[in-house]
Amino acid sequence: MNFEPRADVSAGELHAASQAQPNIALVKYWGKRDVALNLPVVGSISITLDSLWTRTEVRFVPGQKQDQVSLNGRSDEAESRRVTACLDLLRQRAGVDYGAKVTSQNNFPTAAGLASSASGFAALVHAGAHALGLALSRVEQSVLARRCSGSAARSIFGGYVEWAHGKLADGTDSVARPLLDADAWPLRVAVAITSKAAKQVGSTEGMRRTARTSPYQSAWVDTQEADLDVARNAILARDFDALAAISEHSCLKMHALAMAAQPGLLYWKGATVECMHRVRVLRQQGVPVFFTVDAGPQLKAVCVPSAIEQVKAVLCDAPGVLDVLDAGLGAGARAMPVGELAT
Ligand code: DP6
Repeated sequence: MNFEPRADVSAGELHAASQAQPNIALVKYWGKRDVALNLPVVGSISITLDSLWTRTEVRFVPGQKQDQVSLNGRSDEAESRRVTACLDLLRQRAGVDYGAKVTSQNNFPTAAGLASSASGFAALVHAGAHALGLALSRVEQSVLARRCSGSAARSIFGGYVEWAHGKLADGTDSVARPLLDADAWPLRVAVAITSKAAKQVGSTEGMRRTARTSPYQSAWVDTQEADLDVARNAILARDFDALAAISEHSCLKMHALAMAAQPGLLYWKGATVECMHRVRVLRQQGVPVFFTVDAGPQLKAVCVPSAIEQVKAVLCDAPGVLDVLDAGLGAGARAMPVGELAT
């Protein structure tokens, strides 16, 4: 591990750009065993997408005191604080204390259950580490991304990814690792957008409320290892039906757990439920497709490549669906040319 700052630190600004894509959890992360270190109470398994992205440029400026953060052309105080906390982890490693200018863009709706924090913090850690000349392995980047947003640990990697909950108090065993490359089993994902508004209760608060008040919390934790085993085996065997069954189960179980919190967390719109029914009807008709939904109203339908047009058409036609995006499975975080993002 290299904690040394780059040799040209004093020469001027340190600048890098990166892209990362959202990931969709098939076996869900919900709940923390350590809030300060952001360690999960359960492991999770996800797929990283390709055509939806966050692109982020980070420019550290010696002498600058504060970070300046622009997300999709706007400045948001709460988001800026999270970005600064994340950059602080990198500054500590590099032994520098100066501020950065951060410009970030998503090509999909932000904070509406489309994993924008996953791609956002994965891109930020990747770009920030490169700007500071930190030679971090992907696992080390993933550990830092996890500190900023749990699901970001998985977006450092491409394809099918498992993030272990780990048992150690310092979290060094709670790392994400790739399970299978994207092109080894190139499934497709249709995303039905049912609302473009930011969600009312973010994941962090939702998890806190659930752990404190949901009567199903211990059942959730106790049954997760078995779900992970089934999903991991299904992925390694490319067994679509087994992956469909366990993914829908994990999704509905997570939402049932969260709905039973007080006050209950209800992330779905009517159109989300309509899309679930439509996906199940398609599957009964023999189309290999299943759904999953994160902490927001968008429905993600995962299918074999030959079914994607049919799945999109059926979701597009559902009342309340505003748009249907479509993605394949993609790579992990990577470097981009600097200077291409509008501020
Ligand atoms: C429902 O990673 O956004 O999407 O660690 O508090 O930032 P924080 O939470 P976040 O939670 C994602 C929850 C989920 C399930 C998942 O992605 O596994």
